[in-house]
Amino acid sequence: MKVTVVGAGAVGASCAEYIAIKNFASEVVVLDIKEGYAEGKAMDLMQTASLNGFDTKITGTTGDYSKTAGSDIAVITSGIPRKPGMTREELIGINAGIVKSVSSSLIEHSPNAIIIVVSNPMDTMTYLVHKTTNLPKNRIIGMGGALDSARFKYRLAEALGAPISDVDGMVIGGHSDKGMVPLTRLATRNSVPVSEFISEERIEQVAADTKVGGATLTKLLGTSAWYAPGAAVSGLVQAIACDQKKIFPCSTLLEGEYGLNDLCIGAPVVLGKNGIEKIVEIELNDAEKAKLAESAEGVKKTNGLLEL
Ligand code: 2OP
Repeated sequence: MKVTVVGAGAVGASCAEYIAIKNFASEVVVLDIKEGYAEGKAMDLMQTASLNGFDTKITGTTGDYSKTAGSDIAVITSGIPRKPGMTREELIGINAGIVKSVSSSLIEHSPNAIIIVVSNPMDTMTYLVHKTTNLPKNRIIGMGGALDSARFKYRLAEALGAPISDVDGMVIGGHSDKGMVPLTRLATRNSVPVSEFISEERIEQVAADTKVGGATLTKLLGTSAWYAPGAAVSGLVQAIACDQKKIFPCSTLLEGEYGLNDLCIGAPVVLGKNGIEKIVEIELNDAEKAKLAESAEGVKKTNGLLEL
């Protein structure tokens, strides 16, 4: 199993590290445009192999896509991250050109690869990869909901005073501060609805904190987060590589599902060896449907800024 990670920045390097530590991939190639940067990150990571107990071979390359040839999975993290106070959507001007070029180069050398998009604004970048590569829709996956759901569970556990392992919850919709839809009605503490333990007001606060989870960290760090994004991507890569048939909320091209068309937005999908093996249409109540429809309008507005 060969995996390419484009972008040796904090998210890309964290993703490569978590993939290696999980030890399911034979090879991870990290590519960056900054001279020597990917090679350095790869070498540093390889020097943790004996310490962290993995056999995955991590290599780095400066812009040489021939080294990525034959990748089964390719992760696109390249592009600029947010600064405090910025929205993800404001990154489109620079990141769209990068993602378009990167996705074309990846598929030229790995025509059968499954692509996972991380670069922001992620839902729009995922849509751009569809338009650029024309790959089958099951092979283009946007990572946002897995990260947002992890932040949702973190906030839920905090509110419940519970271990995170006891908590479950999912965020669908756009990966944006205003567009996320935390499914509070379906969140549970060991199969019990969280509303049995905490008030509606507290649950709404959890949802609000979840939606600005990225912005909260960007304000603290001065740049976008990287540990949880990297870990979230590695979970999607593992589900595909190991054909796990796990459900994750991922940005996927909708063609009528949830009453939505011609956009990529977070929805529950089954991930396995074929990438998106099924889009899962869960029963939403009217309020949830309205929030998802509003979120979709926001994503389509950002898509409209693309020069396709
Ligand atoms: C985040 O929410 C980078 O979009 C990513 O942290």
